[in-house]
Amino acid sequence: MSTRIGIEQIQVGMVIDKPIYKHNGVLLIPRQTTITPRVQQLLKEYLVEYIDIEEKAAMPIATSTEAIKETEAFKVFDQGMLATTENLRSTLSHVAHTDEALDVQTLVAEVDNLFKKADNNIQLLDMMYCMRSYDDLTYTHSVNVALMCHIMGRWLGLSEEDMQVLSLCGLLHDVGKVDIPQEIITKPGRLTKEEFDVIKEHPVKGYKILEKQAIDERIKAAACMHHEKCDGTGYPKGLKGEQIDDFAKIVTIIDVYDAMTANRIYRKGMCPFKVVEALIDEGFEKYDPKYLLLFLERITETYINKPVRLSNGQEGNIVMINKNDLSHPIIQIGNEYINLSIHKQITIEAIL
Ligand SMILES: [Fe+2]
Repeated sequence: MSTRIGIEQIQVGMVIDKPIYKHNGVLLIPRQTTITPRVQQLLKEYLVEYIDIEEKAAMPIATSTEAIKETEAFKVFDQGMLATTENLRSTLSHVAHTDEALDVQTLVAEVDNLFKKADNNIQLLDMMYCMRSYDDLTYTHSVNVALMCHIMGRWLGLSEEDMQVLSLCGLLHDVGKVDIPQEIITKPGRLTKEEFDVIKEHPVKGYKILEKQAIDERIKAAACMHHEKCDGTGYPKGLKGEQIDDFAKIVTIIDVYDAMTANRIYRKGMCPFKVVEALIDEGFEKYDPKYLLLFLERITETYINKPVRLSNGQEGNIVMINKNDLSHPIIQIGNEYINLSIHKQITIEAIL
């Protein structure tokens, strides 16, 4: 049996259990290759995110949230995130209240810079997940969505240019919230109908702020359309399927995922696997299936090897994702394996 691990968890001496191919289908590394520093380098160069290794070699790999927070890479990322968030706050407020041109190149550079603080997508998502206990301000959420859009762009195989536009779509999608009263945005618990009506104005407000800017039209569309749903139940216009811009559809999915997993002052964020389950149960009519499925498949894979606590109190590691049942992975507890797809009475309570 092999175990899938993230690239940042590989160690010299482990043995690769399944062949690794380049994007064009050419073999990169054959199976049974022992990892050397050179192999590690190749995997990095070809942006390989996970590998399957022989289980006997896969021992010291689980990385808990607490352990990640202690790493130097996390501390650097944490500082970078704080600076980017502050810059975004002042840039957006400035853009909303003046006619000056929005400097998208600087914004792109900020996100890129943050992106480069991680060696790969999994490490980046891990560090973003660890930041969730800090705060949930609009700007942190926007930077999160921008980073995840960047990753999604890679998963979709977009060009560098399109990836930057998608990233900006994420960064600027909530710009219309700049003038929504903070007490409504941060209100704990349910909003009144009047308050929700005020919140619902932010896509149109956002579009108006960006309208005159000489920026890609898809960024404006994302600000305006990121609360539209494919079945017509969204706002502000109740657009359906094809009427919604593709990049806006992607931002919508990531926006919902980040909002549901984020901690709020008044509630803890939902466990990612519960969010995945909710999105599978009711998401395929609301969100474009071609983006939703790819996102869910790839995001669940990033949790492989994470330590978890189950609803029966046991703790173990996620060792495999069930392709046909993404929200119910296989958990290893000591020498035992529990397939949550079969034992549906047991759920993942928390990622540790
Ligand atoms: Fe929004």
